Amino acid sequence: MNRASALRRVIVVSHLMRILITGVSRGIGRKLAQHAIDSGHEVLGCSRTVPEGRPFGGRHFKVDLADTVRLSGMFRQIRKEYGSIDALINNAAVARMAPFLLLRDEEIRRMFELNVFSAFNCIREAVKLFRRSCHPYPSIINLTTVATIYSLEGQMAYAASKAAIEQATRTLAHELAPLNIRVNALGLPPVRTALTRSVPAEKIEALVARQAIPRVCEFSDLVGPIDFLLSEGARMVTGETIFLGGVK
Ligand SMILES: NC(=O)c1ccc[n+]([C@@H]2O[C@H](COP(=O)([O-])OP(=O)(O)OC[C@H]3O[C@@H](n4cnc5c(N)ncnc54)[C@H](OP(=O)(O)O)[C@@H]3O)[C@@H](O)[C@H]2O)c1
Repeated sequence: MNRASALRRVIVVSHLMRILITGVSRGIGRKLAQHAIDSGHEVLGCSRTVPEGRPFGGRHFKVDLADTVRLSGMFRQIRKEYGSIDALINNAAVARMAPFLLLRDEEIRRMFELNVFSAFNCIREAVKLFRRSCHPYPSIINLTTVATIYSLEGQMAYAASKAAIEQATRTLAHELAPLNIRVNALGLPPVRTALTRSVPAEKIEALVARQAIPRVCEFSDLVGPIDFLLSEGARMVTGETIFLGGVK
């Protein structure tokens, strides 16, 4: 057995994963990638710009996911270099927050292109690589938002794009279960990142006040649910969207 296959065997036996995370240059994706690396997983990540902060400990692909040709090229490269992946975290997204009547068609399209179509394309391509994986519990996690639950004014298009992801999570759970692939989503209340920087502080405070646990969600609050959804312990959990903070 050569060194690479020996390492792969250790990874599979210990249930460590090769995880592809989209949108790793900053914010939640950057921290998720670092957490996964620190936990011993092998991380492949992508974004249009290089990851912020300390050197990225995984393999980074500089890709605009809205460009379907580049997206397919990245998956081809992953297949060539690694053969398979064991998990996908669909994290990359954009949000343009404005009343619907002030939103231009191309702004809505941009959100749907990344938040929906790129996420769907990543799932389609990832499933092909999952089929080459020998990990016992491959899974997909999609990131979504409380904006779908709260029907927040000024977030119609963003929430609609994420509602599509939540529906896909439920349906794909059924379609992919025969392939031993679980699909879940994590619904986040406000987290301080570039995405929420333009939201006025009083709006964030009002949103947080509606939560059963009325405080701003920190990155450390996501770690447990993400680790759980990827783990053997969640082997019967699929088609679920877990919302943090108590928002239903
Ligand atoms: N922050 C919150 O309060 C909050 C609340 C609910 C849900 N969420 C969800 O959590 C996820 C992460 O959000 P965040 O707050 O961390 O956002 P963020 O700070 O804006 O980061 C978004 C990431 O996506 C990448 N990205 C954007 N467009 C891309 C493209 N065309 N191709 C490839 N990568 C692209 C960005 O990198 P580049 O710009 O370098 O490409 C960046 O790494 C999103 O799905 C979001 O909807 C966030």
